[in-house]
Amino acid sequence: MTQDEMKKQVARAALEYVDVGGIIGVGTGSTANHFIDALAEIKHKIDGAVASSEVTAMRLKSHGIDVIDLNSAGDLSVYVDGADESTRFLHLVKGGGGALTREKIVAAASKTFVCIADDSKLVDILGEFPLPIEVIPMARSYVARQIVKLGGDPVLREEFTTDNGNIILDVHNLQIMEPVKMEAQLNNIAGVVTNGLFAIRPADVLLLGSKDGVKTIT
Ligand code: 5RP
Repeated sequence: MTQDEMKKQVARAALEYVDVGGIIGVGTGSTANHFIDALAEIKHKIDGAVASSEVTAMRLKSHGIDVIDLNSAGDLSVYVDGADESTRFLHLVKGGGGALTREKIVAAASKTFVCIADDSKLVDILGEFPLPIEVIPMARSYVARQIVKLGGDPVLREEFTTDNGNIILDVHNLQIMEPVKMEAQLNNIAGVVTNGLFAIRPADVLLLGSKDGVKTIT
């Protein structure tokens, strides 16, 4: 089974968490795209979806799924999204696709966060995948200097602007031993919009696609 087939398998498994008659949150990335394609088959069962990025909104609309502004949706029953890394404690690194800020907002507004990934994303310690940080453009150098003091090597994501008009610094060489503490510490730097650690609000359920089927970690 290829990595993409595992992503497809796990995306389909997440349909089980979709409540009939509600509005759900939908993430960004190739695994989330498989989820959107599967969701299209049961679209009559939901009232619509809140998108975590412009690209996800476009894909939802292309399937005829109503895209709803979070401000009109209230709290959501479930948010389904992928991850770049996850631990067994369901702490995540996200933002490989650059949508981390809206993803974090939609996750925060959701009762249950179902993370879907292939099993290559499960790690013991977060940080091998460079940690994305969304930064207000004028703060780029200042934020980079503060990150170096914390032991990271920030690299500007070239030719990339987020949906919110900001830049991304991808931080290499961080060994994230205390994800909750580091998430708060990074968010405290002036000019940081948010960082790609999802530890203060981790996932509630991790569905992992593997060649032996879908594994559930809670
Ligand atoms: C986008 C994300 C994605 O969930 C993450 O990058 C995983 O992507 P993929 O499903 O393509 O492996 O956080 O900002």
